[in-house]
Amino acid sequence: MDLTKLKAILEPYKGQKGSLIAVLQKTQEVYGYLPEEALREIAKELGTTANEVYGVASFYAQFRFKPQGKNVVKVCEGTACHVRGSHRLLESVQDYLHIQPGEITPDGVFGVERVACVGCCALAPVMIINEDVHAGMTPVEAKKILTDIEKSEKTQVK
Ligand code: FES
Repeated sequence: MDLTKLKAILEPYKGQKGSLIAVLQKTQEVYGYLPEEALREIAKELGTTANEVYGVASFYAQFRFKPQGKNVVKVCEGTACHVRGSHRLLESVQDYLHIQPGEITPDGVFGVERVACVGCCALAPVMIINEDVHAGMTPVEAKKILTDIEKSEKTQVK
């Protein structure tokens, strides 16, 4: 993997263990997640161990250790959404994309995640794609949205 960008991030922080969180945040901004190789490099440059870096990173929910899909599909599993059928919604998303929560499609276009209440229970059940909240989702509507995104991704590639 190309660590050039990481080396630029690390340059001002060499030997500064106390800057670990800031370095992890910047690394995730650049790579979209925290690759294992990057964690080892961070440990080396900040003067700590890979175990300590991993320990700190895994403590915070904001850090990811796997790449995300280009479009992150989040299905809310909070109580209001659950009562209104979010499990069927999640099943339909999984069926359509052939992946489980935490995975990404082989082409990297979609990733699926389960999330806890996102704070718009009146709109339940909700599905969030990237930053867009889709309210009152049914399995059929969810598939239609995913199909539309798929089509638009294909036209962008051509
Ligand atoms: S339970 Fe889904 S938004 Fe609150």
